[in-house]
Amino acid sequence: MVIKSIGVIGCGQMGAGIAQVCGQSGVTTIVREVSQELLDKGMGSIQKALSKQADKGKITESEVEETLSRIAATTKLVDLGNCDLVVEAVTEDFETKRQIFQELGDICKGETIFASNTSSLSITQLMTTSDRPDRFLGLHFFNPVPVMKLVEVVKTFAVDADVYEAVIQFAESLGKTPVRCEDRTGFLVNRLLIPYLLDSVRALESGTGSMEDIDEAMKLGCGHPMGPFQLLDFIGLDTIYQIATIMYDEFRESRMSPPPLLRRMVYAGRMGRKSGIGFYDYRR
Ligand code: 3HC
Repeated sequence: MVIKSIGVIGCGQMGAGIAQVCGQSGVTTIVREVSQELLDKGMGSIQKALSKQADKGKITESEVEETLSRIAATTKLVDLGNCDLVVEAVTEDFETKRQIFQELGDICKGETIFASNTSSLSITQLMTTSDRPDRFLGLHFFNPVPVMKLVEVVKTFAVDADVYEAVIQFAESLGKTPVRCEDRTGFLVNRLLIPYLLDSVRALESGTGSMEDIDEAMKLGCGHPMGPFQLLDFIGLDTIYQIATIMYDEFRESRMSPPPLLRRMVYAGRMGRKSGIGFYDYRR
């Protein structure tokens, strides 16, 4: 079972990154967005990222062209019917994902493997929305997808062992390092990362140190590429809030509950880099 073609649903930050990495690895790729405007925006970001690599001399102009020629773009789900693997990377809303997987069941060939790039929803629950639980798993990439080496490959009770191994091999063929994990909320990384980020906010709230000093401490003291507040802004405060809420709902551990400051910032629209302001101000 070798995966040669992929459909990516959603061409936002994650979907565009996944499509780019697949295209660059020689995989026949088709990416779907709900509107032409969003599709153009996503494809534009892939083109820009590839041109940047070419400007730095990391790839040649002809490699840019070859990669782009491998990535088709569509607004129609039906165009993904013949893909070996379809990865869903749309908004973290169960109902939206449910509708997609239900439609994909009618559209795709029987052998197509379905995967979700969700960071917090239950893969097992998503699996129940599809017609093929034995060919359904989690495939969780990290932001920025072209840079981060890790992919979490998430198992359920129902997934076929050969399907799971085929996806592990596929992740390796993209130059990623896959880790195996069970379907538990937060998987491996967010299970550890989210409480750490929330604790940083609590440390700030309780006056332990300034956010600049907390960031500096974790960068210089632990060798992290970003301090927790830089990372909170990078991931997006609304995303962190949502993941934390789902994790708290599952585990009922206070360290997973969103701190009041985070909640207030999300209510106020301070989502981090994407809104121009979060813990830091990016508008200047
Ligand atoms: N897209 C593509 N490439 C990017 C990029 C982006 N958004 N941001 C940076 N890069 C590339 C740069 O082009 C550069 O490439 P080069 O080495 O070929 O020249 C390389 O990454 C390093 O970038 P910079 O020199 O500009 O900056 P840094 O050295 O500070 O690296 C970073 C930027 C890679 C983002 C680094 O700060 C980092 O690793 N931060 C932590 C990111 C992280 O933890 N991500 C995981 C978030 S959790 C998650 O995604 C899970 C979800 O469920 C919440």
